[in-house]
Amino acid sequence: MHYPATFKKNLIEWFKINQRQMPWRDTNDPYFIWTSEVMLQQTQVDTVRSYYLRFIKRFPTIEALANASEEEVLKHWEGLGYYSRARNFHTAAKEVVEKHEGQVPYQPDVFKTLKGVGPYTQAAVMSIAFNHPLPTVDGNVFRVWSRLNNDESDIALQSTRKTYEAELQPYVDSESGTFNQAMMELGALICTPKTPLCMFCPVQSHCESYALGTVLDLPVKTKKIKKKQLTYDVYLIDNHQGGYLIEQRSSKLLNNMWQFPMYDTKPTEQELKKEFGESLHVDETCLGTVKHQFTHMTWTLNIYRAKINAADFDTVTMNRKWLTRENRHQLTLPVSMSKIYDTFCERTNE
Ligand code: ADE
Repeated sequence: MHYPATFKKNLIEWFKINQRQMPWRDTNDPYFIWTSEVMLQQTQVDTVRSYYLRFIKRFPTIEALANASEEEVLKHWEGLGYYSRARNFHTAAKEVVEKHEGQVPYQPDVFKTLKGVGPYTQAAVMSIAFNHPLPTVDGNVFRVWSRLNNDESDIALQSTRKTYEAELQPYVDSESGTFNQAMMELGALICTPKTPLCMFCPVQSHCESYALGTVLDLPVKTKKIKKKQLTYDVYLIDNHQGGYLIEQRSSKLLNNMWQFPMYDTKPTEQELKKEFGESLHVDETCLGTVKHQFTHMTWTLNIYRAKINAADFDTVTMNRKWLTRENRHQLTLPVSMSKIYDTFCERTNE
């Protein structure tokens, strides 16, 4: 989506009047700008101010930073959190001194090779310090741009970042540092997540989601949930007559479905004999592993084989059955159990 020239003009005029005073906005020194951008990546502007001033007072040049001990660098970062930022920045400062004669590289491709410099830091430092035509896409810009275009793409996807970078490219052909900072400042001051001040927005007339009343629905971001990892030991108990012992689940997950006996803690043969009778013999060799993904968790199932004398074992009263080729399709087996049957039982029956 391309906006007329008034979009950029309105935005930059607003920024020049309304931008917050920040100590790193009074300088073109790439080292100072880089310092501020590293600090700003996970931390609010108001917190960063005092840390930034203290940091550049103690490390006024990139050589001073490179020559300091890691301990002292971390000490000046204490309270900002995400200490790998500081460690990487310190390493990058040493790289600049050792490989680039103490000059922060002017070429974006070279700058990007330094430790800890990703696409955001590259675009921010290169545009603000040198006016290189690179758009910054941070959380603020994702919000502003998705709303301007009423775009419902998932901003957690790398492909959305790529699309936004491409769409913003035409706006950074000149004054890129000012444009990028204006977009971020608009996101911080006007186009805020929960209570945007659309009445004061300098680009309201360009905003599709404002026109459609969908501002608060954007941006769309799927939460990446960390799946719970569970491991079970599963026993294929063979009755010598083509049947394998299964039991019915009574649990929230997969309730009433049939499974091979499974345990979250590996039972001893003694414990299994107590449960299934003295005729049980367990082969301790693990036959293999089956993985199954649920939406919220992953099961890792380690498979073991055992043999039992069917005559000794009462399945009916125990809510258990023999799974055979014949009844296989009448019973509801969870996908994981079908996988196990097909892989480890079916073949041996043939
Ligand atoms: N967030 C990160 N860097 C910023 C900048 N230079 N201006 C405004 N907000 C920012």
